[in-house]
Amino acid sequence: MKPLSTTVQSVPPSPTTMMMQRGRELRMAGKDVVNLAGGEPDFDTPQHIIEAGIRAIEAGDTHYPPAFGTPALLDAIVNKLKRENNVHHITPAQIMVTPGAKWALFAALAALLDPGDDVMILDPSWVSYAPMILLHRGNPARVPLSGKDHFRVTADLLEQYVTPRTKALMVNSPNNPTGRVLTRAEIDAIVYVALQHDLYVISDEIYEHIIYDDHVHYSLAAEPGMAERTIIVNGFSKAYAMTGWRLGWMAGPEPIVKLARVYQTHSAQSAASFTMAAGVAALNGPQECVKEMVAVYDQRRRMVLDAFEEIPGIECPPVEGAFYVFPRFTQTRKSSLEITQALIDEALVVGTPGSAFGPAGEGHVRFSIAERTQDLEKMLERMAKVVPTL
Ligand SMILES: Cc1ncc(COP(=O)(O)O)c(C=O)c1O
Repeated sequence: MKPLSTTVQSVPPSPTTMMMQRGRELRMAGKDVVNLAGGEPDFDTPQHIIEAGIRAIEAGDTHYPPAFGTPALLDAIVNKLKRENNVHHITPAQIMVTPGAKWALFAALAALLDPGDDVMILDPSWVSYAPMILLHRGNPARVPLSGKDHFRVTADLLEQYVTPRTKALMVNSPNNPTGRVLTRAEIDAIVYVALQHDLYVISDEIYEHIIYDDHVHYSLAAEPGMAERTIIVNGFSKAYAMTGWRLGWMAGPEPIVKLARVYQTHSAQSAASFTMAAGVAALNGPQECVKEMVAVYDQRRRMVLDAFEEIPGIECPPVEGAFYVFPRFTQTRKSSLEITQALIDEALVVGTPGSAFGPAGEGHVRFSIAERTQDLEKMLERMAKVVPTL
């Protein structure tokens, strides 16, 4: 037989699959497993959004939709960008609605990369960034951020990893997995490096609404000089608890979006027709539902962080946004994979090893707090017993 794709084979299988499988086996054996490895709201989609989707189906909106988004959804995104992000330059021709933000990231990379191009990603970063770059035959260039320095981004650090082949930088704030929100100074550093080295920036803003205390989300596309080089990626999964609807979008410079549109029409084609009607209801409708969900995440965040303070052997960086905690295990020589395995076996708690997010995540384990409060309480009780024995 002829060999299979070396490109796809260059992508390592997900280290989280093994953990999830172990958790499933224990659950099937009747064990009370707490699974915090996922990344989706435990809430159902708000009712007014569901109803808009149902109304669209009943009205016959079950045919191929406009491939890049209905006019109503494109308008809603244009207005949202102005209202919430201080981004005023985007027209409907600069947007592509996608089946999930994940596909928007994928299509953005397709539009930007030639084989051998370098793309900088901040390490630790979301598990799919490096594989997506590899699948487009680019090189993920990991910029290691230090947990000891609160995963801080500086221009000096970024510049150490710029090469003549660096084409783009991927940024995610609020961040999965670290919970960090980029500060004003960090945004300035990214803008400086992007302008200085003529880089495109893919700004993944999917957690923008899930933000705590007085932290502020700055959209990179609103910064001076950044309109022509920033692709905003966003979606409905996290803020509106719509993971299963598969709806996201990109907004950026027209030449890039044009190429992404070519890519999409010959692959995914479009998002589903009636989900776009639900998306319009989400963006144009009342936003209290988002605030209510964030208030619950906030309570859980405080509960978990307070309890972690009392457990010897855990140090947890503050959580400023998104819905994950990313503690470091300080009194064990085990790798994050071994710690995660031990927590499954001994505490029946499933997390995601920090190393899944890159070498800089080593020593950490990620747990989602977008899970039922009683499950988080169980996790805390069990961790208090098991962590000191690791
Ligand atoms: C950082 C980040 N970006 C993008 C996505 C993808 O979201 P979607 O469900 O819209 O594809 C996720 C989902 O976990 C995420 O954590």
